[in-house]
Amino acid sequence: KQTIKEILKDYKKVLHHDITVYGWVRSFRANRFIALNDGSTINNLQIVVDFENFDEEIIKNISTASSLKVIGEVVESQGAGQSVEIVAKKIIVLGDNFTEELQSTILQPKKHSLEKLREQAHLRFRTNLFGAVFRVRHAVSFAVHSFFNKNQFFYINTPVITGADAEGAGEMFGVTNFDLNNMPRTEEGEIDFAQDFFGKKTNLTVSGQLEGETAAMGLGRIYTFGPTFRAENSNTTRHLAEFWMIEPEVAFNNLEDNIDLAEDFLKYVIQYVLDNCKDDLEFLDKRFEEEQKTKPEKERAKEGLIEKLGNVIAKRFKRVSYTEAIEILLNSKENKKGKFVYPVESWGADLQSEHERYLVEKHFECPVVLFDYPKEIKAFYMKLNEDNKTVAAMDVLFPGIGEIIGGSEREARLDVLKQKMADMHVDEHELWWYLDTRKFGSVPHAGFGLGLERLVLFVTGMTNIRDVIPFPRTPKSAEF
Ligand code: 4AD
Ligand code: MG
Repeated sequence: KQTIKEILKDYKKVLHHDITVYGWVRSFRANRFIALNDGSTINNLQIVVDFENFDEEIIKNISTASSLKVIGEVVESQGAGQSVEIVAKKIIVLGDNFTEELQSTILQPKKHSLEKLREQAHLRFRTNLFGAVFRVRHAVSFAVHSFFNKNQFFYINTPVITGADAEGAGEMFGVTNFDLNNMPRTEEGEIDFAQDFFGKKTNLTVSGQLEGETAAMGLGRIYTFGPTFRAENSNTTRHLAEFWMIEPEVAFNNLEDNIDLAEDFLKYVIQYVLDNCKDDLEFLDKRFEEEQKTKPEKERAKEGLIEKLGNVIAKRFKRVSYTEAIEILLNSKENKKGKFVYPVESWGADLQSEHERYLVEKHFECPVVLFDYPKEIKAFYMKLNEDNKTVAAMDVLFPGIGEIIGGSEREARLDVLKQKMADMHVDEHELWWYLDTRKFGSVPHAGFGLGLERLVLFVTGMTNIRDVIPFPRTPKSAEF
């Protein structure tokens, strides 16, 4: 069986032969031209139906979205915009029954129906838009593996069920093997949620980093790529309760090496998508342009989607310390005129996404890497700098997105790490296995985490993170 993508690409091989194709009808014009799509590409294959040779019943059942098996001869096309078409000899309608409303949704999912489509598992994947988005998502994932493989990293699978809270932020979903007849009980007879996974307290992982660090301490360069879970109740267009994270960890790297790696990595993946997803990107580019027209002039993007991707890889990312960034924000017109929802008051403030986006979109007008954050606002495992006030943290900020990557050089000194854990109320007994890496042959090392969906959001130009993951998990949706 050949996909439509293959047929269109290598049509010379099958020219004047009879072939069988399968797909869904995108349109049926003049009872004669079917635009058939099988999901392999945004492009349709034209099927020419000589309706006089076909049973009327069959023709009647062909409409937008119905599914077909078609046998016919491949011929060169007379029409503009396509090299080849199929002259149908036999058509079998595999499924129909699409109402007009469903048909129009498939062709043009509008803003309000993007939300509706999240609740319609069967429709979402049949639209041109989500077809393009998920093909690009696939290409991004593939490029991630390709980048690391080329650079001699090993792919390590870290556990989904773990006893660790890698970020120390307490935003975990607990895991339980409920046996309703035999629940663990406290002495008072209450259900004991602290002993849920065969007698131990466990949760879904928030990050594979800590396990990744232990692997890097033997294998040198590793990366994880798996689902991670955050029980933060944030209903934003940038947060999911379940998202996929890519986390490289490298022995002997310092903060600067880490920033270089993050920049090279992002640019590689974006370039890969530009090189390999041309048709889908052109489709998304048009959609993006249409969407801009619906916005007030001030909020419109200055560049097209493809143009934006090209510009991001062309320039070196701007590297700015947290301290410099705070100065810029304190002196900004926005801050002075009270335009930020969260005014920046002094050094030490945690940056909100409005501040990150000001730096990227208004001040520097390019991706920005912020580094050396105050230790109080970052995780316990980050290396304490000599000033005793900041840690060797880095966040990569992207236009339209805000934080796309967060990472750091790690605290490799056992005594300093233990002190930081104590200060931040992270239980060192629970992380005994992690502390072992600092007891035995500790080395400097660094890593970061990229949220896959934030990158897919960026390259597809979509606006809501729920629309770039096949089955979004948010506080409101977890049914299928
Ligand atoms: O900044 P975060 O929380 O860092 C970590 O988890 C580190 N352990 C990573 C490391 O150093 N190995 O998350 C990293 C990235 C963010 O920059 C963002 O892209 C994404 O993960 N992210 C989310 N994406 C979607 N929904 C959420 N709720 C996210 N939380 C973080
Ligand atoms: Mg972060």
